[in-house]
Amino acid sequence: MTPDDQSLDDEAFTSLLARMGEGRKGHAAETQPTLRSLRRRDAGFERHPLYQQMQFQRGFAGFAGLASPYYRLHDVRAGATSVIEGRPVINFASYDYLGLNGHPDIADAVNRAVEEYGSSVSASRITAGERRVHRDLEMALADVYGADDCIAFVSGHAAAVSTIATLLGQKDLIVFDSLSHNCIVVGAQLAGCARRSYPHNDLNALEVMLTKERRLYDRVLIVSEGLFSMDGDGPDLDRLIAIRDDFDAWLMIDDAHGLGVLGQTGRGIFEHAGVDPQKVDIWLGTLSKSLVSCGGYVAGCAALVDLLKHHAPGFVYSVGMPAVNAAAAVKAIEIMRAEPQRVAELQARSRRFAGQARAAGIDIGNSWGYGIIPIMVGETIPTVVLADRLLQRGVNAFPIVPPGVPEKSARLRFFVNASHTDEQIDQSVELLREELHRLGDQSLGSLLHG
Ligand SMILES: Cc1ncc(COP(=O)(O)O)c(C=O)c1O
Repeated sequence: MTPDDQSLDDEAFTSLLARMGEGRKGHAAETQPTLRSLRRRDAGFERHPLYQQMQFQRGFAGFAGLASPYYRLHDVRAGATSVIEGRPVINFASYDYLGLNGHPDIADAVNRAVEEYGSSVSASRITAGERRVHRDLEMALADVYGADDCIAFVSGHAAAVSTIATLLGQKDLIVFDSLSHNCIVVGAQLAGCARRSYPHNDLNALEVMLTKERRLYDRVLIVSEGLFSMDGDGPDLDRLIAIRDDFDAWLMIDDAHGLGVLGQTGRGIFEHAGVDPQKVDIWLGTLSKSLVSCGGYVAGCAALVDLLKHHAPGFVYSVGMPAVNAAAAVKAIEIMRAEPQRVAELQARSRRFAGQARAAGIDIGNSWGYGIIPIMVGETIPTVVLADRLLQRGVNAFPIVPPGVPEKSARLRFFVNASHTDEQIDQSVELLREELHRLGDQSLGSLLHG
């Protein structure tokens, strides 16, 4: 019986958890629901299938002696290193690719912004929330892409969801890479358009799909990431543009992880590929990675931005980005553009990590070796065990398991950043090699409780 099986009644479910709890070795006891807590209120949330599934998984993890990797507390500003619940670690789980978080010039810009504007703009920008720093940010981002204009949202996820849902409707089609981020999928669901996904980076399959279906729809949007967040590879941008032209579609590139990472000056996938950025209709990005802030954006032609500024629900009906976030990102763009050596350092560190891992016989999938290096393990339990053992030895990398990635493709994801030292990388790859070796010698049974 699984948690998806709706016939699992409360009593059977609670008793299953209780039986699992006997083997828990004291892990995560706080998350174990008791019969009493399940009965305390009958609002029904405990019987929600998603909640039951979570509790089932927690019960199983506890039964198996696996510590939860979720919501671990970092005690300090996380960069190349961090302190997790009192333990110093070499940190590979944060997206601060250029090592800019906490940069003194960014801290100064943030302090000035809070003095000038306070901590909130206290209204949607379309009403009373517009501040000069919003436009400074949008112009700086538009300049990165050689675009007419840009619109900044309060989150990257919201930027994607709102943009897709504004541009597409029931007569339209979205076609996206099967490994696209959740924000693309949710945007497509909200738009109510037809949805198709093509196998990862398989542009032949995309062409076949569009040949069959293009004529059935009014508008068609093709979406790919520039640098895939789980795999560290990217698409053939030139060919995507040609397909867009052949099928009279729009092309959106989510370059959340490409900015600051790809290309000689960090401008992203188009610079890496030597492609004119104006050939992409919609550039989607986020401030939360290389730009060490919080927020998202869309850059493109004037009509696109004008349309979104008056119709995108997550912009029009949501508060404007706090000035402090905008100021931090403006300063981060300035530093990125003035100090391309940071990008070069990040790329050199990533190459070192990828090269050493490959030399040690470690499977890093199809990673291009820029910023994101997945260590392909396959099964979920060994991946979680590996992450935990590395953490015990002072290396923090996050395990990515289904449904975040397809079944049997669980991996440990390493985000390399410009501030990692050669020694930190060498030491981490060596520990990884040792722990993978140890894992390889162990049966699944011995991993549990091992
Ligand atoms: C590819 C991609 N797009 C969009 C987002 C959403 O950005 P944010 O976290 O800034 O909302 C993320 C976040 O991780 C991402 O990886």
